[in-house]
Order: sequence, then structure tokens, then C-alpha cells
Amino acid sequence: MEIAVTRVGQAGTRPKDEDLGFGTAFTDHMFVMDYSTDKGWHDPRIEPFAPVTLSPAAMVFHYGQAIFEGLKAYKTPEKKVQLFRARDNFDRLNRSARGLCIPEVDIDFVMDALKQLLKLEKDWIPETLGTSLYIRPFIIATDPFLGVRSSFTFKFFIILCSVGAYYAGGLAPVKIWVSKDHVRAVPGGVGEFKTAGNYAASLNAGEIAKKQGYAQVLWLDALERKYVEEVGAMNIFFVIDDELVTPNLTGSILPGITRFSVIDLAKKWGMPVSERKISMDEVLDAHASGRLKEVFGSGTAAVISPVGEICYGDRVLHIGDGNPGPVAMKFYQALTSIQYGTAKDTENWIEPV
Ligand code: COI
Repeated sequence: MEIAVTRVGQAGTRPKDEDLGFGTAFTDHMFVMDYSTDKGWHDPRIEPFAPVTLSPAAMVFHYGQAIFEGLKAYKTPEKKVQLFRARDNFDRLNRSARGLCIPEVDIDFVMDALKQLLKLEKDWIPETLGTSLYIRPFIIATDPFLGVRSSFTFKFFIILCSVGAYYAGGLAPVKIWVSKDHVRAVPGGVGEFKTAGNYAASLNAGEIAKKQGYAQVLWLDALERKYVEEVGAMNIFFVIDDELVTPNLTGSILPGITRFSVIDLAKKWGMPVSERKISMDEVLDAHASGRLKEVFGSGTAAVISPVGEICYGDRVLHIGDGNPGPVAMKFYQALTSIQYGTAKDTENWIEPV
């Protein structure tokens, strides 16, 4: 399929690297294509970033049939543009598509479309370490219909955004609050898919955490409210003695690309790593006996996010000395140096643009 390109009349300006936060500095263009049952995915185009016109009855507004991805493009010191594990993100998009009855996309085609878009927007990719171009592919259901069924029409978009750190505090350890009353996902549900509703479902508990001075929610499993699942919108890792422990993927946990990367690096470094159930009781015991060395989240947006405090009912656990721990830092440095092209891509994770 040929991609039609319509350029903006007047290009926008990228904020200075030091002024970049997360999620507001959108680039000039976006990629769009449409789906209908008779034509499949069609009419791919790059056009100016602009509001979209949809029927108020479009199914996405009512029943949340929507999936998305998050990945990043980086500029190397030689000013080359590169993607980190981008195909894995599109594989996961198709996985989410299957889970939400959304038609899959052709990964080779959308990779090419993304690269074409990135070439057009290369000046929007910031260069300082810690900044990047966040890429948000997403698919929404567009049938103007109020009955509950899967839509027959969809739109696929890729929008881009120059970003700095996800948390204003950068790598400073965050305080997290364990929710006992709210869960993010349930067994047999859609927790393992990157679908809009999972994030909507997290907001209420997130607000409760914030009111008490905590940055994120630590989510427990829905059935027993015993086992740790995720932290905020990230996967979670514990360093207990010298072992790295992360919850195994049970269906209600998002299979994070950064999570897989941390596990792969740990195995490569010969660090004991286990994907298994980990209960709050085990976390409390490990903390009480001084064996809980570090806790950190992993995700595309923040990369690695150290946790300095966990509030669980009336218990408050302090972890570390207020600085990012050595294990979290080691992963942060290893991942970012591959992403920014300052270290050799030994794992074959980089895709040049
Ligand atoms: C990620 O870091 O991978 C996320 O999903 C965060 C995003 C929802 C902003």
C-alpha cells in the first residue's frame, strides 16, 4: 500500500530539551489508516496532527474498544535515529487486538509507516540523555452504533511526542501505596492487554494514593488480595538478597517489553532471577529481616523507577537510603546506553530508522 503524505504548512517548534515533560509536545504529523470489513486496512496516510472527527455514537466512546502501544525513538551521539524493540511492541499490539476483537495490523507495513513518519519528524527527536520521542500507536472502534458488539470499522493512528522524564523527579525513588480495595485486572479479564479501560480502571485508586501523598498504586491480585501484580502502569521487581523477583505473567499482568529486557539482562549477567508469585507477606518478611534490598518499576515511559517507600495498611516500609539502588541503576544504565546507542546492541534490540 502506498502511503499518501500531506505536509503541514508551518512546522511547529520543539520545546527545549530541559523544558520537556511527558505527553504534551506533539509533533507536526501523524500516521492514520482505516479499517472496514470489506476493504481491510486501507487508505494509509501521513497528515498534519489535528483533531479527528468522529460520530458521537462511535463505539470507542461508549464501550472502550481501544488498544494502544508505547515505544520510543532515540537519537544517538552520531545523530542516528533508532528504535528499541519496536517489533515487539507491534507484536503486542496484535496480541491486544486479538484480545479485544480488533483486526490485526501487518507488522512489516506499520514498521515502514512508522519509519517514514519518523524521517519526516526527525527534528522533533530530542538529543539529551533522558529525552526521546515517545511513539503512541493506537486503534479505536469507529462504528456509529450503540448496540454492544465488535465494531466493523476502526482507525489506526501513530502520534508522536517529544518527551523528557515521565516523573518530574526523574530517578528519585517514589512512594507507593498498596490498594486493598481496588484491583486493576482480574483473572480471565483483559489485564494482559494494553487496552484503554485498564488505565481508566486504575484512576480511582490512583487518586486515593495521591491524596495520601503516594505517587503510585501497588496492585494486588483480585482473588486473594495477597500477591503483588504491578505498580502504577509499570511492572514491578524486587531484589531479595541477591535474587531478582518479579510476578509471573498470569493473565492479569501486562507483558512489559522493559520487563522482558530486564529479565534478559539479568540472566545474561548471571543474576538469579525468578518469575513467580510474590505475596505482600513475603515482602514484609524480607523487609523485616533486612533481605529486601531494592524495589523498582519498569516501563517504556519511565524505563526504571526506583521505589523508596511502600505503604501497606498501617505498615510503612522504607527501602534503601533515598537514592536509587545499585541494581536499579545498573539496569537503567544498561538499558539506556543501548537505547541511546552509547553501548553495543549485544541483544539485537535496536532497529535503525
Ligand atoms: C509504560 O511505561 O510502558 C506505560 O505504559 C506508561 C504509559 C501508559 C504512559
